Amino acid sequence: MDLELTMELIKGRRSIRRFSKEKIDRKQLETLVEAAVWAPSGSNAQAWQFVVVDDESMLNRLMAFLPGVLQAPPALICLCIDYQRELDRAGKLGVDVLGIMDVSMAAQNIMLAAKAMNLGSCAIRGFNEEVMRMALALPENVKPELLVLLGYPENPVKAPARRPLDEVLHWQKYRQKDEVYNG
Ligand SMILES: Cc1cc2nc3c(=O)[nH]c(=O)nc-3n(C[C@H](O)[C@H](O)[C@H](O)COP(=O)(O)O)c2cc1C
Repeated sequence: MDLELTMELIKGRRSIRRFSKEKIDRKQLETLVEAAVWAPSGSNAQAWQFVVVDDESMLNRLMAFLPGVLQAPPALICLCIDYQRELDRAGKLGVDVLGIMDVSMAAQNIMLAAKAMNLGSCAIRGFNEEVMRMALALPENVKPELLVLLGYPENPVKAPARRPLDEVLHWQKYRQKDEVYNG
């Protein structure tokens, strides 16, 4: 395992919102979902479900319900939580907190694996839940939580700045405002 390469992958992932028309191979999309299911999950509940959409007309139809998305991607994955399974496996804590953390971790796995395939990705929370539920024929207990758009990047994107470590990293105890960082 190469730390330098891993950090390069993590830092090199960007939110890509403009894609070329090139289609994504089904096998690759399957590999992305495989990456997702290897994410950790609270109580190992694995209450996630993944709906992959790569049909052009379906993607175009969904665009009407994604106001912040300017162009239909070649594919997207809708990450959902089955709240019945979440409740059965992880109880109230699962329903209130863990499920959403689980799909977030699954999403990061998808986006990093996509980056390793030279695919661009973008997490999208700006969608109408009820419309998405109807469009994807989700049952009552399954809630769409996050979309990940996927496609080959149209052009490179500049990395939005990150806050420096001395602003967000604390050793042992939370540093008060006037304390100096001594990492
Ligand atoms: C939970 C979550 C929801 C997001 N929702 C949207 C969204 O609705 N629309 C969008 O354009 N970007 C969305 N993003 C992408 C962020 O804007 C992006 O990650 C951030 O600007 C940092 O850029 P980077 O991903 O290139 O490092 C979302 C990201 C996360 C983690």
